[in-house]
Amino acid sequence: MNQPKTVTLAFTGASGMPYGIRLLECLLASGVNVYLLYSQAAQVVAKQELDLTLSGKKQEVETLFSERFNARPGQLTVFGREEWFAPVASGSNPADAMVICPCTMGALAAIAAGLSDNLIERAADVMLKENRKLILVPREAPFSALHLENMLKLARMNAVILPPNPGFYHHPKSIADLVDFVVAKILDQLAIPQSLTPRWGSGAN
Ligand SMILES: Cc1cc2nc3c(=O)[nH]c(=O)nc-3n(C[C@H](O)[C@H](O)[C@H](O)COP(=O)(O)O)c2cc1C
Repeated sequence: MNQPKTVTLAFTGASGMPYGIRLLECLLASGVNVYLLYSQAAQVVAKQELDLTLSGKKQEVETLFSERFNARPGQLTVFGREEWFAPVASGSNPADAMVICPCTMGALAAIAAGLSDNLIERAADVMLKENRKLILVPREAPFSALHLENMLKLARMNAVILPPNPGFYHHPKSIADLVDFVVAKILDQLAIPQSLTPRWGSGAN
């Protein structure tokens, strides 16, 4: 795919919020416009894992991340979970790609079943029907047969199933290195240039 101009990023309530926040930082640094969505459970996990308050007031979250990550005015737009007039809700104006990071087993199941019961599920459904890139970063351990079946179903519809499984062959020295390994894989899938981790065979491993 060509480098996207607009990416929808959704946080759901799985463990792994550091991946989602770092991805948001990298997307904004790359210059792409970001539509940000987050579930109620994501608000709980962000608080629990990072002591980060994802306010229910979208303007506050827009300001928080725009200031923290030096976004251009208008580069980041936050949408509420039932904001049905958001561009992401329709196939007539979707983003170029969507990432759900981290992705719960619940969101995975709802998308595999086509429920479209909130804006995250609907935006993902739109990506599938419009054949746009949908990347899911599902986090659970172990996976049940149901989780695996849902992933297979979505993979067969060309969704990218990208579990947050960091490698160790690049000799990570910190949690940040492990997070960057996963975020680099997502950016590669989006065709967004990145140099977060050394590439295999580059002589740096
Ligand atoms: C701290 C915390 C960690 C959680 N970790 C996971 C997880 O790794 N994977 C998962 O599928 N659900 C996890 N859950 C449960 C989901 O948040 C829960 O199923 C929720 O209903 C998902 O809603 P959402 O898909 O709308 O975000 C976690 C919940 C909490 C509070």
